[in-house]
Amino acid sequence: MNPCCRPTAFSAQLQVLADAAPAVAALIDRHEASRLDWLPGELVDFSDDDQLPALRELRDRARGLDPAIKVSVMLNLLTEEGLPHFHRIISEHVGSQAIWQRWTRLWTAEEDRHGNVMRDYARDAALFEPGALDRLQFDFLDAGFDPDWAGSPYRLLAYTSLQERATQVSHANTARLAAAHEPLLQKVLARLAGDEARHCAFYRDAFALALAADPDAALLELASVAPKLSMPGGTIAGFQMMAEVERQAGVFGPREYAALVSESLSHWAIGDVEPHGSEARRARDALMALPARLSALADRLEHRRQLKTFEFAFLRDRLAALV
Ligand SMILES: [Fe+2]
Ligand SMILES: [Fe+2]
Repeated sequence: MNPCCRPTAFSAQLQVLADAAPAVAALIDRHEASRLDWLPGELVDFSDDDQLPALRELRDRARGLDPAIKVSVMLNLLTEEGLPHFHRIISEHVGSQAIWQRWTRLWTAEEDRHGNVMRDYARDAALFEPGALDRLQFDFLDAGFDPDWAGSPYRLLAYTSLQERATQVSHANTARLAAAHEPLLQKVLARLAGDEARHCAFYRDAFALALAADPDAALLELASVAPKLSMPGGTIAGFQMMAEVERQAGVFGPREYAALVSESLSHWAIGDVEPHGSEARRARDALMALPARLSALADRLEHRRQLKTFEFAFLRDRLAALV
């Protein structure tokens, strides 16, 4: 392994996380004070016979949803359904200390309801071809998800900080696009976006603890993941096309990623961090230049010839035009 990518050994980073236990406990307390205790069945449940008319109305509304919204729901749902991968990787990276295990359990329980409520919605709204979601989910879980975190707890915290915000933005933008046509989908996705915002707040401030205790190593780890966030789901069949649809629909792409990276760098005051070594100083400077680089990439993509139609086997209408 390249030594620049492993500036502090796994055990040393774990020790920093363990030493931060009182501050982590305070972050969990803050999260618990603001979290919503909700369950999927409170948002989506058409199981009683007298709800059959409402179920038909839901399907009528869902039939008219813009295909780009359905594609976004599929990609974001599959991402949520990758939870077994995320639970394993996070557990491997935060150690066995009780406070971190407490967080991992609570986070997993909260994330599990995301996939569940989206799945219930997709089934009841008859959003996709029968069986298509099951196959994609099975294949995603079977293919695995192994990002290059190099056994670094700091890299995990940097990644999850950015990823939670990305998921929040993606759910919130899909909710916004769905709002006029399908209020139940808007309500479900807005609820998820609220959870993701609180998860982001935890991970971001947990990463700030690492940054304060061990700035050189934390900067190097952040600089290793931020330029190209490897989104979970890259192994899903059709992932690139789904991501392209999301970008063109204004749900999530380099433009949105540039904004959240900029906001995160400001939150951590990365420009003011004074590392000890020259390598970490270069990493800090590269991070500060990143939002402009990502915005330039977004400009280039927007000037490229745009995809006009796309085809997905999971869509009931298969072929659809982007509007
Ligand atoms: Fe989630
Ligand atoms: Fe989350």
